[in-house]
Amino acid sequence: MKITQELIIWYSNNKRELPWRNTMNPYYIYLSEIILQQTQVKQGLPYYNAFVKKFPTVFDLANATEHDVLKLWQGLGYYSRARNLHTTAKHVASDLNGVFPDNYKDLIKLKGVGDYTASAIASFAFNKVEAVVDGNVYRVLSRYFGIDTPINSSKGIKEFKHLASTLIDQSNPGEYNQAIMEFGAVQCTPKNPRCSVCPLNTGCMALQKKKVDVLPVKLKKTKVTTKYYNFLVCIDSQNRIMFEKRNKKGIWQNLYQFPLVESEKSLKSTEFHQLDLNNTPLSGLEFDYSLYNEVDVLHKLSHRNLYTKFWIVETKHLPETAIPIDSLKNYPTPILISNFIDAFNFPDL
Ligand code: ADE
Repeated sequence: MKITQELIIWYSNNKRELPWRNTMNPYYIYLSEIILQQTQVKQGLPYYNAFVKKFPTVFDLANATEHDVLKLWQGLGYYSRARNLHTTAKHVASDLNGVFPDNYKDLIKLKGVGDYTASAIASFAFNKVEAVVDGNVYRVLSRYFGIDTPINSSKGIKEFKHLASTLIDQSNPGEYNQAIMEFGAVQCTPKNPRCSVCPLNTGCMALQKKKVDVLPVKLKKTKVTTKYYNFLVCIDSQNRIMFEKRNKKGIWQNLYQFPLVESEKSLKSTEFHQLDLNNTPLSGLEFDYSLYNEVDVLHKLSHRNLYTKFWIVETKHLPETAIPIDSLKNYPTPILISNFIDAFNFPDL
């Protein structure tokens, strides 16, 4: 039997029950696909449910503030997804009368929607013959056909997209796309795939050539840099605290954090004086300080390792932009900061 039919049969017997699989509503499918970019189903599912509950229609999402969208997104990471989600919802609500485009060409014009997401929405919501290629699909195809072209090279991207397009089921494209992705997620897993009970094991080239654990091939591209972050948790005698919005472009744009000073290395508790406080709210103030964590908190991003210290700084009177401590949890923050807020015994929280 052809791999296409095998995958569809396997899917009908093994698929997980997931809420976005019981709908053709393009808004829900769009929402699920944005949440599931770079995110596992297990982690994304509660966020999907929370978004559907709080914003049941694209108009509800469009009418929300970016602050509220980022707050609900908190903890999922890659926050540009949330900002794009909001931008696109506003565009669909106000320029397209709330109607999502029903084809690949127009879907890919939406902010935050790339080749994969446009194909996913077109096929799942509108049953268009558009082949999806995500990390799962790369893995299944590279192993089954024994292809070692790097999946993140332009040659590989073209080769796998073309192969996927030749395999897609013409009458059930959405079902087929879901099937191959699910097969990669559940059966043909990155580590310890279950080859002995795999319905495709007789035709799998990687299995025959003992290359299952080296496929797919991926070029190492991004260099991971190391940074040393010092957050200044500045509290005054009226139980107010400094919390600042990150305006700079970047992954944490529009999220809130404590004033931040970078250092060249990880500082010891006796080395606070090495920090340049000139552009911080502490400049010119008298204060006492202590170090909260002797051992750095390591926060890993795709391109950066952040070694982080939190310094507790107490002063009499902070500048007017300080906020009451009891309002801290209303602000969207990177998970690195919200973990600290949860762990630290703030007087008013
Ligand atoms: N990952 C990305 N999209 C998905 C979907 N629709 N179902 C399961 N996992 C996914």
